[in-house]
Amino acid sequence: MASIIKYTALNPVVTGGLLYALTRAPVDIREKAIAAVSSLPYAVELTTLIRTLKCHGCVERELCVMTGGSGGLGQIATRHLIKKGVRVAILDIAPPPTELLNSSVKEIADQVKKEHGTVSILCNNAGIGRTNLITEATDANLDKIFKINLISHWYTVREFLPDMIRAKKGHIISTASMASYTTCAGMVDYCVTKAGAQAFTDGME
Ligand SMILES: NC(=O)c1ccc[n+]([C@@H]2O[C@H](COP(=O)([O-])OP(=O)(O)OC[C@H]3O[C@@H](n4cnc5c(N)ncnc54)[C@H](O)[C@@H]3O)[C@@H](O)[C@H]2O)c1
Repeated sequence: MASIIKYTALNPVVTGGLLYALTRAPVDIREKAIAAVSSLPYAVELTTLIRTLKCHGCVERELCVMTGGSGGLGQIATRHLIKKGVRVAILDIAPPPTELLNSSVKEIADQVKKEHGTVSILCNNAGIGRTNLITEATDANLDKIFKINLISHWYTVREFLPDMIRAKKGHIISTASMASYTTCAGMVDYCVTKAGAQAFTDGME
C-alpha cells in the first residue's frame, strides 16, 4: 500500500502532470482532465485539489525570514509556518537582543544564507507603535519608528530579493495595517510608516 501511494499520490511526475493538465494544458486536454476529476466518486473541489497539488512536497524546501517573529503576530505566523513544515529564521531583537543589535542586517542575512540556504519567503513584520501628537514626537522616537516600520524593508529586501529573482521564486509579505489607509491625530508617525510600507509593497510589483 505504501509503495502504491509513493508511486502515485507522492510522485511528483504524477502530481505535477495532473497539475499541468488541470491548469496549463491545451483546452481540450484541460477539459478532459477537469471532467475526469469532477466525475471521481469522492468529488474533490477543483480549487482545493489544485491548491493541494501546488503545495505538495514543496513546503519543506521553503525558507522564510520573519522579522519580529519572537512575539505578537509574527510569532503566531511563525508557529503556523513551522507546523506546515516551513523552516523559519527569526530576525528579532528579543531574545537574545545583543547579537542582533550588534549585527547589521547584511551580516545576519549572510549568516542565514550560509547556514540555511536561499530564502524563499520574507515576512517584513516587525513593527512598533505608540500614541503621541505630532508636536510631542521627538527626533529619536521618529528615527526609531521609521527605521523599524519602514526603512527596514529596504534593508531586508535588498538582501533577499536578488536571490529570489535569480531562483525565479519567492514571496515578500509586509504586515501593513488599517493605518495604511487612514490616519488618526494621535498616531500620525505610525500611520505614515504603515502607509509607506503599503506603498513600498505596491512598488515591488
Ligand atoms: N496587533 C495589532 O492589532 C496590529 C494591527 C495592525 C498591524 N499590526 C502590525 O503587525 C506587526 C506586528 O505587530 P504585533 O502586534 O504582533 O507587535 P508585537 O509588539 O506583539 O511584536 C512585535 C515583534 O517585533 C519585534 N521587534 C521590535 N522591534 C524590532 C526590531 N528593531 N527588529 C526586529 N524585531 C523587532 C518585537 O521584539 C516583537 O517580537 C507590526 O508591524 C504592527 O504594526 C499590528
